[in-house]
Amino acid sequence: MIKKPFLSGNISPNCPNAWEKLKSHHSELSKKSIVELFLSEKDREKSLSLSWEDFFIDFSKNKINSTTIDLLLDLAKELDLRESIDALFSGKKINETENRSVLHTALRSEIKDTLLVDGENIISNIQENKKRMFSLAKKIINEDWRGFSDKPIKTIVNVGIGGSNLGPVFVNEALKFYKNDINIRFISNIEGDHLFEVLKSLDPESTIFIIASKTFTTQETIINAKTIKDWFLQKGSIKSLERHFIAVTSSIEKAKAFEIADENIFHIADWTGGRFSLWGPVGLSICISIGPNNFERLLNGAYSMDKHFRNSEFKNNIPVILALISIWYNNFWGADSEAVIPYSQYLKNFPSYLQQASMESNGKNINRDGEKVSYQTGNIIWGSTGTNAQHAFFQLLHQGTKLIPIDFIGFVKSLHAKENQQDKLISNLFGQAEALMLGKNKSQVIKELEKKGLSKKEIFKLAPFKIFDGNRPSNTIMIKELTPYNLGALIALYEHKIFVQGIVWNIFSFDQWGVELGKELANKIYDDISKNTFKDYDSSTKQLIKFYLRTKKN
Ligand code: F6P
Repeated sequence: MIKKPFLSGNISPNCPNAWEKLKSHHSELSKKSIVELFLSEKDREKSLSLSWEDFFIDFSKNKINSTTIDLLLDLAKELDLRESIDALFSGKKINETENRSVLHTALRSEIKDTLLVDGENIISNIQENKKRMFSLAKKIINEDWRGFSDKPIKTIVNVGIGGSNLGPVFVNEALKFYKNDINIRFISNIEGDHLFEVLKSLDPESTIFIIASKTFTTQETIINAKTIKDWFLQKGSIKSLERHFIAVTSSIEKAKAFEIADENIFHIADWTGGRFSLWGPVGLSICISIGPNNFERLLNGAYSMDKHFRNSEFKNNIPVILALISIWYNNFWGADSEAVIPYSQYLKNFPSYLQQASMESNGKNINRDGEKVSYQTGNIIWGSTGTNAQHAFFQLLHQGTKLIPIDFIGFVKSLHAKENQQDKLISNLFGQAEALMLGKNKSQVIKELEKKGLSKKEIFKLAPFKIFDGNRPSNTIMIKELTPYNLGALIALYEHKIFVQGIVWNIFSFDQWGVELGKELANKIYDDISKNTFKDYDSSTKQLIKFYLRTKKN
């Protein structure tokens, strides 16, 4: 069993010694700007950066100094973080409210590894499942798997939502450069308009639908799957379903009941959380799109980051350091949100992928002892790609009133080898991070305006608007090139960051009870809307239902 402190309420972040020390350190440090910290610490940029494989992380543009890092590392030690990491990797049932292990890391481990869960070595099952996935992907790519009228498969549609959608959406787009010519489409929302927009462009004879749902009960996915099946059966026979429908699920029985052929069902183990599932059969669309070899590289990159996270000293451990810095802002500086800005259009879906991974994991207000927490937990994750974001919301980052730490992510080499444009892109990334930190003071502004020949009166009026306070923090994550391997490592880095945050906040990161109530109420309302009846509602909801029903009739 995990050592007691892992579960004990005594370790809530308000209690550890390091927490108290961090509080007083914060009041000291908040008197200094990041620029002043650079002036007072020699080689600060070197001591506050880390290199690992193709990654270089510069976290020196933060409101931290070496003492902050030491105190944050003390906090990690005081919380027995190392023990919690071991508990994660070794399959302890750390998802206590669902009595489950959390083993997405096992999906990328090597054949030679052994991992016993309930007395069974799960690695052999994982490898077996992977073999089946790879063989199916190869058949489709090589056109050995054909549709009912013998046409080769041209399109794969992933039907799933949440973790059964966001990972595949993100990675398929991110690795577009490596893909073959099979189209990958997605249907997630329970929105008939979207579904029919997708269906009208599809040829049932050359399309495969992957119904991805861990539970196989998620309303959106199952209703969409039923509508798609009816649509398909207008052309194909029941027998031909076996060439066009695949299920990825924990509930084999439910998939069978949906008439999915046994050999087309891929099993999701209960220890795979939906938002961490892209590494297994939920990643089937990715595997088909980029091919098994590239999919294996994606897994290898994540595996390598797993080893770094598991084995490196905390002071050199990228996920640990980034998690602790994030906690520093969330809990000591009162920053509510974090922006993630990849300077790569391939990574345009990374912020929304991370929103689920982070906010569904750490958006909790009850600690592991079932008590209300008295401190902030999960931060709000948002963002978009640079440079687009610069022309959208960066104004608020530069001159707004909120403290929003940023992760800038960039690649050194472009994939299409247009070096000149890549240089411009990355100059923007570096320039933004620098501007946010340095800002522009009053005398600089006045000098600039004087150079332009403005009068004293004009300068006096304009200057306040042109001042940038600066002192706005960011991390810069530079990666040599966007390869499947490096992408796998990047995703795993953030997964582990989320895990560390959950440990420090003393919450259960791997359940998601908070999404249940809305689902229940939606079902109740749907029942009333379809029967035109009325149960008990609050008066605002009642008004909305009435408006909807009335307007629908007219
Ligand atoms: O929104 C809640 C949730 O359970 C997510 O955690 C999950 O990724 C999503 O629904 C989809 O669930 P399933 O894969 O079971 O359809």
